[in-house]
Amino acid sequence: MSNFQFCNRRQITFFLKYRIKLPIMNVLELYSGIGGMHFALRESQLQAEIVASVDINQVANDVYRYNFPKTLLMNRNIQSVTAQEFKKLNIDVILMSPPCQPYTRGGLKKDDKDARSCSLLHFLNLLPKLNTVKYLLLENVKGFEVSQMRDRLVDCLKSCGYVYRELMLSPYDFGIPNSRLRYYLLAKKDNLHFCFEQSSLENILQSKLLPNSVHSELAEKEGKYNTKFGKMCYTLKNILEDGDESKYLIPPHLLQKRAWVLDIRTSDSNGSCCFTKGYGHYLEGTGSVYCPFTDEIIKQKYSKVDSCKNNPDEQLQLLSKLKLRFFSPKEVCRLMCFPEDFKFPQHITDKQKYRLLGNSINIHVVSRLILLLCSENNIINNI
Ligand SMILES: C[S@@+](CC[C@H](N)C(=O)[O-])C[C@H]1O[C@@H](n2cnc3c(N)ncnc32)[C@H](O)[C@@H]1O
Repeated sequence: MSNFQFCNRRQITFFLKYRIKLPIMNVLELYSGIGGMHFALRESQLQAEIVASVDINQVANDVYRYNFPKTLLMNRNIQSVTAQEFKKLNIDVILMSPPCQPYTRGGLKKDDKDARSCSLLHFLNLLPKLNTVKYLLLENVKGFEVSQMRDRLVDCLKSCGYVYRELMLSPYDFGIPNSRLRYYLLAKKDNLHFCFEQSSLENILQSKLLPNSVHSELAEKEGKYNTKFGKMCYTLKNILEDGDESKYLIPPHLLQKRAWVLDIRTSDSNGSCCFTKGYGHYLEGTGSVYCPFTDEIIKQKYSKVDSCKNNPDEQLQLLSKLKLRFFSPKEVCRLMCFPEDFKFPQHITDKQKYRLLGNSINIHVVSRLILLLCSENNIINNI
């Protein structure tokens, strides 16, 4: 049987135990950045090891090395890596999140003609030669699903004998109070079976078939219904950091210019906007900001600000009282479900931290997808 839907709790417990005895799978992490996929793999608890990771960005690589000093990190352009080099690694699984700029909704959408797509095209040329690869997971932005590049990827996968599933998911789907809608493609060799149909994924996520996590438990215990997304999500008080909040206060010049476009959240909010790489520097559309007061007080203060339109100094004074601030890098890490032991080296500035996090992934979402991708054949078929 190859379907989670037919498993009861006892069987699931069995499979969680059983997988401990499975052989260790070799995983290649492409476009590894600060190691989001590595953390997601760790959280999935699959018996798997990252045998190599590849990224061209020195700053990201510093962070990666700091957290995973034992992993073989190739500071390389993927276009320069040969099939022979990858073949030596005996890879079972490939995890990757290629650059998203060619496909972003607001961008130029040069798609497969964009120079930043070349490395993925190069990878598609290598894939037919990497015959040990059984599983592949790709993450990208919304927009990738309608790109030429997606069609080229799917054609390549089909011709190499893979079956695949495509999903659009956000951390909200898992009770996490952060928006990060992303495209995911899961592929596996066609002699293996998916434990879900394309159309039934929503049911799987809502069912209790995936193991419980701190996020699902927290959402269940103290979550509030997020009306916009139709999900129970836990509140932001769970991710707030105690510390020197003044460090992250919005500078007066930005506050004065941008007070009306801010997405302001409180400790009682059960949502936040997607944090992008410009966070901490730009305000519009780069992520939410935090206010230590209640929604009621914020409303009152803004209405006063509105009433003194002709007096910018007074407006600024009123706004300053709200102590609006950026979420700290640690808080952004928590919203993106990085583990508490994730750390940045000392020399990385806050601006660099926001930039790197903005390029990264939601660890918990990807860890669930890795489980769904890799578990079925070894486990469900053996129950
Ligand atoms: C969307 S980010 C992936 C981030 C990563 N998953 C993480 O958790 O931080 C894309 C990454 O691809 C890297 N990259 C872009 N083009 C590359 C190339 N041709 N060769 C190697 N790495 C590349 C960038 O440096 C960036 O870190």
